[in-house]
Amino acid sequence: MTSRAVTSLANPTVKAVRALHLRKAREETGLFVAEGLKIVTEAVELGHAPAILLHGREASDHPLLAKAAAAARAAGGEVVEVTREILAKVSRRDNPQAVVGVFRQRFTALADLVPAAAPAWVALHRVRDPGNLGTIVRTVDAAGGGGVILVGECCDPFSVEAVRATMGSIFAVTLARADEAAFAAWRAAWPGSVVGALLSATTDYRAAGYRAPSLVVMGNEQQGLPPEMAGLCDVSVKIPMRGRADSLNLAVATGVMLYAAIG
Ligand SMILES: C[S@@+](CC[C@H](N)C(=O)[O-])C[C@H]1O[C@@H](n2cnc3c(N)ncnc32)[C@H](O)[C@@H]1O
Repeated sequence: MTSRAVTSLANPTVKAVRALHLRKAREETGLFVAEGLKIVTEAVELGHAPAILLHGREASDHPLLAKAAAAARAAGGEVVEVTREILAKVSRRDNPQAVVGVFRQRFTALADLVPAAAPAWVALHRVRDPGNLGTIVRTVDAAGGGGVILVGECCDPFSVEAVRATMGSIFAVTLARADEAAFAAWRAAWPGSVVGALLSATTDYRAAGYRAPSLVVMGNEQQGLPPEMAGLCDVSVKIPMRGRADSLNLAVATGVMLYAAIG
């Protein structure tokens, strides 16, 4: 496959992709970076065409790259062969992937979510850690959940770190965001159980009587779930802490809750 070749770090396309490490640039452009031919291929299969596709010469003859490039070009995207140095700078890694895709962010409006489309969904209040958020997106995908609703001020699901942690599930899971007031109003019409995960709860997480579609509500890494969010839930539950640890990591707790809700 032949693509336009770029060797300069000062090239405007290369600079634009590098800038996507900054949240401001992602918000202004609505774009984000996903790395690796496998993940780019999965994205294309799920209907996400790359707006920009960068690849090293070593990937040029890979048939999957040809497919991704065709999808990018058909959608008016740019396909560029770059040096290993450029790939390393773009990825901020000494050992970069040979393919980097730039994609359009997709958020679904709360009003457009279809709760009955999945047995469970996750709402995260003020999630801070991109690794946790990415792992939760991956877990929702793996468990057969519908999506993640980001409530309040959260970290960016489209940061490079979060996207890496999703392992490609960023393209398969519905994402929505809302402030606390919009979430409270929308939750009022939720057709199934709304279950909060709360360390001070007394009900065991397996005894919540999950009625599909369940909405599992998780708290922030430091502060936990505040009373105003717990108050929106039908029931608050606790996962037993049997050792010295006083809580589970947020992503681990979300996984436990999701599998309990889905069965
Ligand atoms: C790291 S914990 C927060 C710890 C925080 N210091 C607190 O007091 O809640 C992050 C979130 O994971 C969930 N979580 C963690 N361990 C849990 C447990 N044993 N039972 C229920 N929820 C838990 C809760 O939603 C919590 O808000």
